[in-house]
Amino acid sequence: MRWLRGALVVIIFSAFLIIFAAAAATGLAETCKPTESDMLGPFYKSGAPVRSAVGKGYIMTGIVKSAKDCSAIKGARIEFWLVNPEGTYDDDHRATVFSDATGSYRFESNMPKPYFGRPPHIHIRVSAEGHETLVTQHYPEQGKTRSPFDLVLVPSR
Ligand SMILES: [Fe+2]
Repeated sequence: MRWLRGALVVIIFSAFLIIFAAAAATGLAETCKPTESDMLGPFYKSGAPVRSAVGKGYIMTGIVKSAKDCSAIKGARIEFWLVNPEGTYDDDHRATVFSDATGSYRFESNMPKPYFGRPPHIHIRVSAEGHETLVTQHYPEQGKTRSPFDLVLVPSR
C-alpha cells in the first residue's frame, strides 16, 4: 500500500503544479492584454511635431509593448492630441513622441477639460513595425496629475 500512497502524493503534487502554472500563465497574459481601442474622433491630424510636452499639469508615462510576448517596442510612433485649456482642439496641443530603447515614453500636457458631454480624455494613436496601429484614448482620473499608461499593440498578421 505504500506505493499507492506514494503515487497519490505525486498525483496531488502534479495537480498543484498544473494549477499554479495555469495561474501564472493567466497573470502573464493579463499584463500583455492588448490596449483597448477607442474612437479616433474628428480632430486627428497626421504629422504633429515631435515634442514631449504641449503644456503642464498632467504627465503620462508608460511602456509600449507587444501583446505577442510582452516585449518592449522601441521607436514606436505615438501621436497625442487633446483640447487646450479653453476646451477646444488646436495645433499647439498635438505631439509625436517616440518610445526609447526600453520602449518607454513620457508625455506632459495640460489637464484636458471635458467637452460635448465627454469626460476629460487624451487621444492616442500608436504605430510600430510589425504591429497593427492602435487608436485609443486615455481618461485621466479626477485629482490625479500623472498616470502610468502602457500601450500594448497587437502583432500584424
Ligand atoms: Fe476628443
